[in-house]
Amino acid sequence: MNLAIVYTSKTGNTEELVNFIKDLFLQKKIEVRLFRVEHFPIQEIATFDAIIIGTYTWGDGEIPKETLALYRAFEIQDVKHVVTGVVGTGDSFYPKFCGAVDAFRDMLYVHSHLAVTLKIEITLQTQDLERCRRFVDIFIKNLGYVKAQC
Ligand SMILES: Cc1cc2nc3c(=O)[nH]c(=O)nc-3n(C[C@H](O)[C@H](O)[C@H](O)COP(=O)(O)O)c2cc1C
Repeated sequence: MNLAIVYTSKTGNTEELVNFIKDLFLQKKIEVRLFRVEHFPIQEIATFDAIIIGTYTWGDGEIPKETLALYRAFEIQDVKHVVTGVVGTGDSFYPKFCGAVDAFRDMLYVHSHLAVTLKIEITLQTQDLERCRRFVDIFIKNLGYVKAQC
């Protein structure tokens, strides 16, 4: 299983979230590699079985500019077989809460096997931990889809 979490984070909220998600996979003995988006080999996304994207939201509900190349890579490469998920932190003070999660979700729904998404209000709170566990459980269930394709 070739599973990656690719993320970006300006002030650390999304970084904390993806680290927590990563630990949940490791607890289930599923290996996962964590990449900052700048270090991720975007030409090779089709070689991964599964990719989770972690992003904050900027501007007026926009994806961060450092994720634009990744977004585009999913659009133009043949990634229909890749199981994907999106997690993000945002601030509901803004009209488009976690708009970047929505933008990735809509694109990944078309181009990949989108499994699940998760939006977190700014930073992880106690009540979010169960939501993260659920995210991971649903994602793992969707990995069965990969095996079925082999
Ligand atoms: C200039 C600016 C614009 C933002 N725009 C949005 C937005 O449109 N929607 C949203 O949900 N959050 C918005 N946020 C909030 C950030 O996405 C949020 O603080 C996030 O947790 C930051 O993640 P990070 O710590 O991983 O960088 C904005 C923050 C700033 C400073």
